Amino acid sequence: MDIIERTVAFVQHTLSGAESGHDWWHILRVWNNTKLILQTEQADPLICELAALLHDIADSKFHNGDESIGPRIAGEFLAKEGVDAAIIEHVQQIILNMSFKASLGEVTFDSPELRVVRDADRLDAIGAIGIARAFNYGGFKNREIYNPTIPVEQNMSKEAYKNTTAPTINHFYEKLLLLQDKMHTETAKRIAAQRHQYMEGFLQQFYAEWDGLA
Ligand code: ADP
Ligand code: NI
Repeated sequence: MDIIERTVAFVQHTLSGAESGHDWWHILRVWNNTKLILQTEQADPLICELAALLHDIADSKFHNGDESIGPRIAGEFLAKEGVDAAIIEHVQQIILNMSFKASLGEVTFDSPELRVVRDADRLDAIGAIGIARAFNYGGFKNREIYNPTIPVEQNMSKEAYKNTTAPTINHFYEKLLLLQDKMHTETAKRIAAQRHQYMEGFLQQFYAEWDGLA
């Protein structure tokens, strides 16, 4: 088995029983998106694929917000596998800097590989999959799907975003509809444009059905 195959096995094993927003199927989709973007972008494929596979290996939400836990587990695994220290360090930086929340704060690290994998992850939060993940998350949190008396807010502060308990439709305006403009690679921008349109169409239909007009 090569290092990618061994990483796949490690991730599948570690994420068995993970919540569905960040389960193996999310990792597989992000890995596939990564390979698709790599067809037209200049970046190191090994670093990108390792980072895609390991980027959600531990969710800080379940570790008192400790953002170092994911990079640490990934680093320990890769070191045990004998991977180069420089590659390990880069993969860890990518994992640390990938989250949407990191993008709202200070960005301290950048590389072509980070851009590829972060775009690949963001693509999985929009389009049909993004809609499914959002309502799945909202259902898990027992949120309303929509409430016309609660206005949708755009450009929320980092604090407000973290503390929101708003209906799931609001999440489109807080995050999903903003992701198209947060892509860095040309390939992801093209895919995101199509997925964005699909979400706009969904919202139009949703409001029409809500009002009994369709
Ligand atoms: P990420 O893994 O992209 O950093 P999160 O852990 O915040 O994101 O979210 C995982 C999934 O759940 C994403 O598809 C995201 O859009 C969705 N999600 C996160 N917060 C909410 C929310 N308040 N309402 C609906 N969906 C959400
Ligand atoms: Ni992810």
